Amino acid sequence: MRLAGLYGPRVDALIFSSATGRMITPWKDYLSPPGRAALYRDCNRRCRSAFENQRAAIAHIFEARRPAAIACLGAGILNDIPYARFIEAGATVHLVDWLPDIVDLGIASGVIRKSGVGAPECLYCRLGHIDAEDYCCNYRRTETSPAGVCDAFRPDPDAPGWCRAFGRGDLPHVHRQDVTGGYAEAFGAGVADKLAGVTSWRQAFKRAIGLANQVKGQRSRLAIPDRSIDLVVSSMVISQFEHEPYDYFSKQAAALLGAPTAQEEVRLRPAMETLRKTLVQNQIAGHCDEIARILAPDGRCFLAFEVFHRAEDGGAWRLVEEMHGAVAALDRRFDFDIDGCPDLVGDTCFRTNGGRSVVYHLLLAAKAGP
Ligand SMILES: C[S@@+](CC[C@H](N)C(=O)[O-])C[C@H]1O[C@@H](n2cnc3c(N)ncnc32)[C@H](O)[C@@H]1O
Repeated sequence: MRLAGLYGPRVDALIFSSATGRMITPWKDYLSPPGRAALYRDCNRRCRSAFENQRAAIAHIFEARRPAAIACLGAGILNDIPYARFIEAGATVHLVDWLPDIVDLGIASGVIRKSGVGAPECLYCRLGHIDAEDYCCNYRRTETSPAGVCDAFRPDPDAPGWCRAFGRGDLPHVHRQDVTGGYAEAFGAGVADKLAGVTSWRQAFKRAIGLANQVKGQRSRLAIPDRSIDLVVSSMVISQFEHEPYDYFSKQAAALLGAPTAQEEVRLRPAMETLRKTLVQNQIAGHCDEIARILAPDGRCFLAFEVFHRAEDGGAWRLVEEMHGAVAALDRRFDFDIDGCPDLVGDTCFRTNGGRSVVYHLLLAAKAGP
């Protein structure tokens, strides 16, 4: 399994499509598979250490620049986000992801830590400069509350970093939105209609490529004001654009038409490549537009993505072709702050499930001049 597909929806909740008489999954259900909470908690346990390099790089940039407002796009389960540090420093934090519940679980996973003497300490209770009830709707502190936690505290025996009573308050700002400015969602939402009545894979790809071009102009904004963010984080997110919503389309087409034969696959390859490339490039363009829109004039964007990959079973390192194209797309939109970024290129090895990835870390600034 490639790194980029890490949090891809796994469970296909099939429903009956009256248009075709076959079973397909609507886009919104595809992003909300049943049993997702257990899946995300498991990801948090298994994958956290794999994101250490990205977490360290983001923490370094945070300490160097001390941004007052931060937006993490594709924040997921916060494996690579030094969230506690952001809150300790009093930053305004926006966390964006299109998977329901994943960000809430990420926040809940890091609420409790152990103090120097081994007592539980709540991230929000111990900070005098914030109103803890803004962050936890169950916060209840009295004169007799123990030092680092409030009266509501209930330890989770199975998960040391969790408090069972924690309920997210109004802060941080959590947005369940598409970080491609609505492009990926518009494609996903249009797939079922385009697949209605298809009788061949060739026809399915033709319609999907048409849809991928047709929704190019459709844009929706994140609920974050223009030029308001000092540090935008997009960590291991654009790598995901190779997987979704392409995988959604191919799974639904397979549900209707059956898997293509090996021979058919060879014939379909040019169409598959065209669709995949069109989706990746337009998602990157939408993502860059939103980053450029929300970035403050002196702000920075930390971007991490996979550029080489070696599969679990070893073999040759492979170029992740579309991500090299992404560097050129970024260059058209941003300046590179090479000196401001630690561990810039190449030697960051990300390992998960036995596979390995080389990840680029780039720090972007708004383009200077005309
Ligand atoms: C591999 S994870 C990145 C790691 C993540 N920051 C973490 O620590 O869990 C990629 C995340 O980006 C999200 N994502 C991918 N495409 C997205 C899109 N178009 N809009 C919003 N979120 C997206 C996924 O749901 C996933 O949570």
